[in-house]
Amino acid sequence: MSHDTFPIRRVDHIRHYVNNARASAFFYQHTFGFSITGYNGLETGSRDQVDYVLKQNDLTLVMSAPLRPGHPMADKIAQHGDFVQDIAFEVDDVEWAYQTALERGAESAVAPNLLEDELGQVHHAAIKTYGHTVHSFLNRDSYSGPFLPGFRAENQPGDPIGIIEVDHCVGNVELGKMNEWVKWYENVLGFHNLISFDDKDISTEYTALMSKVMSSGNGRVKFPINEPADGKKKSQIDEYLEFFGGAGVQHVALRTDDIVHTVSRLIARGVNFLNVPKTYYDTLTDRVGEIDEDIEELAQLGILVDRDDEGYLLQIFTKPITDRPTLFYEIIHRKGAKSFGKGNFKALFEAIEREQALRGTL
Ligand code: FE2
Repeated sequence: MSHDTFPIRRVDHIRHYVNNARASAFFYQHTFGFSITGYNGLETGSRDQVDYVLKQNDLTLVMSAPLRPGHPMADKIAQHGDFVQDIAFEVDDVEWAYQTALERGAESAVAPNLLEDELGQVHHAAIKTYGHTVHSFLNRDSYSGPFLPGFRAENQPGDPIGIIEVDHCVGNVELGKMNEWVKWYENVLGFHNLISFDDKDISTEYTALMSKVMSSGNGRVKFPINEPADGKKKSQIDEYLEFFGGAGVQHVALRTDDIVHTVSRLIARGVNFLNVPKTYYDTLTDRVGEIDEDIEELAQLGILVDRDDEGYLLQIFTKPITDRPTLFYEIIHRKGAKSFGKGNFKALFEAIEREQALRGTL
C-alpha cells in the first residue's frame, strides 16, 4: 500500500468480558504463562467492574467482569458467554481516529475521553464493529502507569512459554455479511484485502465457509473474516453463530518463534488441541519439502505445516477454551510464510467436524 489512510501502530490489548475475571486471569497465567501486571477493582475504587491485566512479551490481555447484577456487561456475557469484546488499537491521535472513523461510517461505542491519574493521561475512544465487538483507540504516550489510570501494578509472574504477539484475530459473521464487513474495514479503517478463500478452497464433505483476510495499512494488524457457506450439514461457522448468539471473534492466533516448546508446555499444562490423523504426517515432506523440525516430534504434538512462495509456517489449534464451542486459540510459528495455512484447511476442518459430531452439532 502506498498510502496508509488510517495509521494504527499495533494491537494494544485484547479485552475479554468474562463471568469471573479472577478465575480467567488465573487460567491464562497458569496455562499460557501470562504475568498478571495490573488490577482494577473494589480495592482501587472501581465499584462496578473488575479488570485483570495480563502480559507476555508484546501481547496484553485484559479480563473484565461485572461486580453487580444489572451491569450492562452482564447482559452481554449472558448472551455470548465469555467473549472477546475489544480488540484495542494504539494510535497516534485518538480524537482524529474516532472522528475520522465516524465520518467514514463507523458507529460510536465510547466518545473520546481523557483518563487521568497521578502517573499521567491516556486518551481513549471506541467504535463498534461486528456483533458486540468494539475497537478502542488508545494513546498512552503521556502515561507511565502499569496499564490505564486507576489500575494498580501487580507482580504475579507467570511462567512464559514464548508467546510473542498477536498474529491475527478472526471474526465469524452471519451468512451474507462477510463482504459488508470487508467493505467496512476498507472504508473505515483503511484496511486492504490480502487473500480470499471461497467454498472451493475451504470445504469438506460436510461443511464449507468463505473467508477474506483484511490487513491494516502498515500490515501489523490482520483480521480474517469468515462467513458460513452452504454445506450438507451445519458448518463450524453456523455452530459458532448459534452458540455465540451472533457475530464475534472466533480465534486469536498467537505467534511464537519456537512452536515445539510453546505447544509442549501448553500440553503439559492441560490445554487440549485438535488432533489430525497420523496419516497427515506420512506425506508431509511431499507436500511441504524439507523443514528444520523433526517430523516425528511434530506428529507427536499434532503440529501442522504449510508452505507458500515465501517459506513455511507451523500451526496448531486448541479446542474451544470456553464452555460454548466458540472461542479458541491458534499457535503459529512463521518461517518466511505470510499466509494462513490453506494447505491445512481440509485436515483441520475434518478434525473440527469430528469434535462437532461429538457435540451433536454437525
Ligand atoms: Fe488463524
